[in-house]
Amino acid sequence: MPLDCYRIRRDFPSLSNGLVFLDNAASTLKPRSVMEAMQSFGLNSYANVHRGVYRLSMEASKAYEDAHEVVAKFVGGTWEEVVFTRNSTESLQMAALTLYANGVITRGSEILITMAEHHANMIPWIRVAKMAGAIVKMLPVDGEGVPRWDLLDEYLTPKTSVVAIGHISNVTGSKAPVEEVAKKARGAEALLVLDSAQGVPHTPVNFKAMGVDMAAFSGHKMLGPTGIGVLWIRRDLAEELEPPLGGGGTVDRVRLGSGGVEIRWSRSPWKFEAGTPPIIEAVGLAEAIRYLGAIGMENVERHEEKLTRILLKRLAEKDYIEILGPRSPDRRQGIVSFNIKGMKPDWAGLALDRKGIAVRTGLHCAHILHDALGHSEGSVRASLYIYNCIDDVEKLLEALDEIHEKHGRPR
Ligand SMILES: Cc1ncc(COP(=O)(O)O)c(C=O)c1O
Repeated sequence: MPLDCYRIRRDFPSLSNGLVFLDNAASTLKPRSVMEAMQSFGLNSYANVHRGVYRLSMEASKAYEDAHEVVAKFVGGTWEEVVFTRNSTESLQMAALTLYANGVITRGSEILITMAEHHANMIPWIRVAKMAGAIVKMLPVDGEGVPRWDLLDEYLTPKTSVVAIGHISNVTGSKAPVEEVAKKARGAEALLVLDSAQGVPHTPVNFKAMGVDMAAFSGHKMLGPTGIGVLWIRRDLAEELEPPLGGGGTVDRVRLGSGGVEIRWSRSPWKFEAGTPPIIEAVGLAEAIRYLGAIGMENVERHEEKLTRILLKRLAEKDYIEILGPRSPDRRQGIVSFNIKGMKPDWAGLALDRKGIAVRTGLHCAHILHDALGHSEGSVRASLYIYNCIDDVEKLLEALDEIHEKHGRPR
């Protein structure tokens, strides 16, 4: 059944005043049920987890463990593979540090990323490469800002230890051919790390079936709260690797032995979750996933595709608009970045805000991609989600016409 965006809207109090919210790639709004689940848990069932035998702590631990299970099912994995972090940025940082600490990234080894990456999937690799004496190589992009996947064989070498790519670009919305990249990475004996910050919230995923080794995503981009993200680690890898951070919760036993302090790590995912974890946030994320699950991720994807197709087609008809990214709607998901010719993106964003339309403007943490596309001052980004309906798209298009008519002038 197609998704009923008008009915869904009623679950989001932030939209009750007619706001047109098109900044979903930055963060989504929260449905009532997510906030209520967190409030109820926080008020009635909260205690620290895995640290006490009293009833409240046991119940909180169960809720926290259940949240791992809910997340795991959503991405086709098992609870041992789901590590809670703070956000995608921290997850990718953890991935990079883990692979460095475990000797996967070594002096002279190569890490392959693309020029289209969000800084969250770029800077951690550059920093870790510096520590290890490794080399970061960047797959170039084509004229539409899409990574040159056709050059993958050339860029993969026997020295490649890690391939780290974005699932769906936060600027162009273009989708990576993950299965194909995974096959080639495996052929080169490299691990594949997927930045799925814009993937998991918008499309059905099964990381194992996709051939991914590690993947990152954020709760706040999929109706969940801020302060919780996920690092998914393929099970055998998760069991094998030592965590990059240590402390409470990560160890089974610590003893003073003859050779100094001896550490026996906990099993995964606990050994990767150092310190008191995001407990209330985990309950919120599980509720967000239940909400999305009830709609069905195929329906979420189809709905966004339908609106993207219309938005892209209608924007392309406007001669004062420059679109970033693939012209074909089949090559993107839910995100359309553009500029009004001769107008700075922030200016366009402010003018849209005055008309009750929220969009993101700027370089979207993807400076190199914007430079490559010749939009070094940034762009205006409209990003869609389940509570956006065709009227939101119409309002944006109408507002752009009015802004251009009133203010359009050469820069
Ligand atoms: C593709 C991509 N990767 C990573 C991130 C970072 O997400 P977070 O800010 O939740 O860490 C974002 C956020 O916009 C993103 O779009």
